Amino acid sequence: MSPAYLSGFGNEFASEALPGALPVGRNSPQRCPYGLYAEQLSGTAFTAPRHANRRSWLYRIRPAAMHGAFELMPEGCFHNAFGTGPVSPEQMRWNPLPLPEAPTDFLDGLYTMAGNGGPEAGAGIGIHVYAANRSMQGRYFYDADGELLIVPQQGRLRIRTEFGVLEVEPQEIALVPRGIRFTVELPDGVARGYVCENFGAALRLPDLGPIGSNGLANPRDFLAPVAAWEDVEGDFELVAKFQGRLWRAAIDHSPLDVVAWHGNHVPCKYDLRRFNTIGSISFDHPDPSIFLVLTSPSDTPGVGNMDFVIFPPRILAMENTFRPPWFHRNVASEFMGLIHGAYDAKAEGFVPGGASLHNSFTGHGPDAETFEKATTADTSVPHYIRDTMAFMFESRFVLRPTAQAQAAPHRQRDYLACWAGLKKHFTKDTP
Ligand SMILES: [Fe+2]
Repeated sequence: MSPAYLSGFGNEFASEALPGALPVGRNSPQRCPYGLYAEQLSGTAFTAPRHANRRSWLYRIRPAAMHGAFELMPEGCFHNAFGTGPVSPEQMRWNPLPLPEAPTDFLDGLYTMAGNGGPEAGAGIGIHVYAANRSMQGRYFYDADGELLIVPQQGRLRIRTEFGVLEVEPQEIALVPRGIRFTVELPDGVARGYVCENFGAALRLPDLGPIGSNGLANPRDFLAPVAAWEDVEGDFELVAKFQGRLWRAAIDHSPLDVVAWHGNHVPCKYDLRRFNTIGSISFDHPDPSIFLVLTSPSDTPGVGNMDFVIFPPRILAMENTFRPPWFHRNVASEFMGLIHGAYDAKAEGFVPGGASLHNSFTGHGPDAETFEKATTADTSVPHYIRDTMAFMFESRFVLRPTAQAQAAPHRQRDYLACWAGLKKHFTKDTP
């Protein structure tokens, strides 16, 4: 049976899995219904302005403080060691992270590609990919460092959280705010995808300006889970990501024991196919900010700590226009992934599950084959791009590729060759 959901983004939701489990009129009564403990989870400063304030109240079987001592885990492939040395401005591209052969769960399958800032700075992002072949068993995880934007590319994820269950499939995303405990099951046996770990301000829907009150990602398409608790005891493990490293503690019960909750610091999911894509109906190609799904603002107005942008199916009808994304150089740094189908600026090499990195002011754009096709296409007829879903994690800060990503066997060392075939067309006597 698929789980039930509550619709909206950043709303003050309320959910109870037993009738009357939510206290009425006060957050912390002297004794909570059903003998539950009340616990507040604050995702922002207590004094954050009301429109930006995120917190939830959880009514649970045991408080979150009950677990064994934390011990540091050995450093693996999932970390925030983005380095401090030189960063190459070179364009980089990778094939998909190979699926593991040894038993590997979602947490063990995380592999850090790039990042900037960090949990200490409270700004920047970590970019990770994952490849896994088994469910997390008796393990629960939370990330104190950042909010997790999870982008499945292959295989569904069943994310059981303190707030309830999110089931996500490729072309859907899940958002797990900081500090929320969860475990990940793989209904399809294997799974691969991308994760953006956001150390900065929580992701939110962008303002729409002249677009009006509808369009892009509509708030009602974001789905939060309904309360669902488990009351189980055993020899379990609680893993915390804290200041860039993983720590484990023994826990003798499931921390997913929340019977009721209310608040707006909640996980949610969103189907990217519901994005209302907006573009030019005359000429030219709007800036890719027109494809913005969610933004983590920085302290500079209009400049994102992280912008999550998608390139969904769309109809290109612009006349006398070079229709693919143009050649460009940006102050921002761009990490791209492909969830499904083909991306319209690359004829080959950028495959589902793959990734590319174009850092600040590094030139990039369509490859030679795409350029030739686009400059000879008949623009009096619309072009339907039906089978695609690409995305970008874009940051105002330079993205530092990790040592393991640069040395990875699945890195495409010949990526630059995709532009080598661009011909010189200049003829000074023919305008
Ligand atoms: Fe770009």
